[in-house]
Amino acid sequence: MNKSSLKDEIKKYLIQQVEVYGDIVLKNDQNFGKQKISLINSEVQKILINNEENKIVNKNSSVIENESEKNGNVLDYSSINSVWLEAESLMLLNDKICNCQRCSLANSRDKFVFGSGNENADIVIIGEAPGAEEDKQGLPFVGAAGQLLTKILEAVNFKRDEVYICNILKCRPPENRTPELSEVEKCEPYLIKQLNLIKPKFILALGLTAANTLLKKKSKMMDLRGEVHYYNEIPLIITYHPAALLRNPSWKRATWEDVQMLRNLYDEAIKN
Ligand code: URA
Ligand code: URA
Repeated sequence: MNKSSLKDEIKKYLIQQVEVYGDIVLKNDQNFGKQKISLINSEVQKILINNEENKIVNKNSSVIENESEKNGNVLDYSSINSVWLEAESLMLLNDKICNCQRCSLANSRDKFVFGSGNENADIVIIGEAPGAEEDKQGLPFVGAAGQLLTKILEAVNFKRDEVYICNILKCRPPENRTPELSEVEKCEPYLIKQLNLIKPKFILALGLTAANTLLKKKSKMMDLRGEVHYYNEIPLIITYHPAALLRNPSWKRATWEDVQMLRNLYDEAIKN
């Protein structure tokens, strides 16, 4: 098979995968069973982006995306992906996705909560989803849990504005209920794109929604915290969600140990 027909074959396969699974592809891995990997992070992203047929047709991504989902139009779907996939900065990415209509949370949100902080951060902190205050202000972790997060960071000498803070979901679930899997699957590609732009040296996941989404697991906090995991080769530290600490202050000690571990790893990394 020559190079261009192989490329066409791969393209066809991927477009089909996007149609069936959305923005993720399922990779068969003998050791780990079916593992979801991100389409965005893989080489094939480039094929989709560079593909002339998939060039942007309309700037208003959210509207077409809805239309294309309704029509089941595969090519439109991948062209919509490329609208925001091509964003070259966080600001441009936010511009392209902030009117997202991919899930029903679009109807109940006040503000889309993209994320905030240092574009060049070495550490990205990922929570679950905006709460009431975040939804009102359009900023992550600005309510009570956010104030505690600021203190936790300060306890190990990180300032809020040197890190980058965002969430798995960009819109508030009603009554702060746990995100649904379908919402996570639709929103997670945005987070992956954010991480691709920031290229952090470390990720800190707050709570099980963030941890299990990133690791594609259904583990308990007990089994996850206190060690270093990896997310696409980026060291990932997992700890309690600050909102959980407000309810269970006895978990603060473990959280402190986890962020202390992050601090030590960070200090080691910048030394080298
Ligand atoms: N210092 C930085 O400059 N960025 C981080 O993310 C953490 C500490
Ligand atoms: N809880 C979260 O997970 N994220 C926020 O932004 C606020 C509260």
